[in-house]
Amino acid sequence: MIIRKSPAELEKMRKAGLLVYEILQYLSRITQEGVSTFDLEVAAEKMMKDAGATPAFKGYYVPAAGGKYPFVLCTSVNEEVVHGMPSAKRTLKSGDVVSIDTGVSLNGYFGDSAVTLPIGEVNDEVKRLLRVTSESLELAIGQMRAGNRLFDVCGAVERHVTSNGFSIVREYVGHGIGTSLHEEPQVPNYVDRRNENPRLKEGMVLAIEPMVNAGRADTRVLADRWTAVTKDGSYAAHFEHTVAVTANGPWVLTRP
Ligand code: MF3
Ligand code: CO
Repeated sequence: MIIRKSPAELEKMRKAGLLVYEILQYLSRITQEGVSTFDLEVAAEKMMKDAGATPAFKGYYVPAAGGKYPFVLCTSVNEEVVHGMPSAKRTLKSGDVVSIDTGVSLNGYFGDSAVTLPIGEVNDEVKRLLRVTSESLELAIGQMRAGNRLFDVCGAVERHVTSNGFSIVREYVGHGIGTSLHEEPQVPNYVDRRNENPRLKEGMVLAIEPMVNAGRADTRVLADRWTAVTKDGSYAAHFEHTVAVTANGPWVLTRP
């Protein structure tokens, strides 16, 4: 069942969403060559504490990993697709890309967003990967209208990514979000005809999160049981927003 949120609930989700936005904005400003991914973790955790929010990821149990995720951020560098873990040993250098993914709960409601940033000089193909992935998210957001269907959202990502020659990760998907980080429905970044295709209604909220590889689509998980990487070592990009369906169209809760 897809849980719809009242206008009052959406206002609460908005507060959580804007906090996630502020955190990612600040992290984007300090992310540069020489900064470690653990530096980002420390800054983000402090901002959550100061805001009276609870990290959504830290302590989150993931059966496939067989444990609780230990950090407030996922920081996935280069061929890491998602669930990369912050490390003081991972210092960012020119030519890297880093996906920063984070979520909070504030007064019982969740927000979830991610951005992939280039460090120093990255090559043109990497720039194109980031641009196309971000554009695919915007196209999906544009489909978040009452009367449309879930496949319109999924298909918007799929079309844009594949027509630009990149690969869609299939093992990880977006999700409904509300008083839990993960609610129904699953939101694949491609049309999965094995799933239902519900009509979108006012008050539905989805975390849409295209994960796109420059090379082949296949991923594997490292021995740490969390970090998902591309099998062929190609770079990956990941962008995410929490988006509500409203009478006035899509409302991106995780940006102003
Ligand atoms: N944004 C991801 C998601 O929505 C990251 C959560 S992974 C976690 O699933 F394990 F850290 F929670
Ligand atoms: Co998410």
